[in-house]
Amino acid sequence: MSDEKQQVSRRQFLNYTLTGVGGFMAAGLLISPIRMAIDPVLKESSAGDMANVGLSVDDITAEPQRIDWTIDQVDGWYESEVNRAAWVYRNENDEIVAFSPVCKHLGCVVSWEGSDQHPNEYFCPCHDGRYYKDGTNVPGTPPLAPLDEYEQEVRDGMLFLGEPKPRGEA
Ligand code: FES
Repeated sequence: MSDEKQQVSRRQFLNYTLTGVGGFMAAGLLISPIRMAIDPVLKESSAGDMANVGLSVDDITAEPQRIDWTIDQVDGWYESEVNRAAWVYRNENDEIVAFSPVCKHLGCVVSWEGSDQHPNEYFCPCHDGRYYKDGTNVPGTPPLAPLDEYEQEVRDGMLFLGEPKPRGEA
């Protein structure tokens, strides 16, 4: 065995030191941009928030009325203003109901009493799709599922709506 001590040359010492300090500085410089780059992805999308649709619950009657509103949607890095719409009325139990107007066949927009031949129904002009007042699809017409229903709550007398949820096949 040799008793000789391992000597570190000046060149090796400088190499180790510069590599260590350089790596430390590079990591410090990279952390901030990486954090900025992935931060929006880590944040929750705003899509699931309840929105005040600007309708007082006192103004909701048994007759479906269409309401339109916009929400600010933040999805990752992308911020956008999204238009929303609903058919809102009070059912026979005095409960507030809010349906999505998006037809469950191919996504056209349905209207309450949109056809003279089918009063008291939602009507889709694209392929004559029909729904009863409670949103259930009329058998024998193209849609195979009821209209989606919005999540809802009432705050200070105003209607807030969230996401439309499917109600399953009729
Ligand atoms: S899209 Fe509504 S009936 Fe086809």
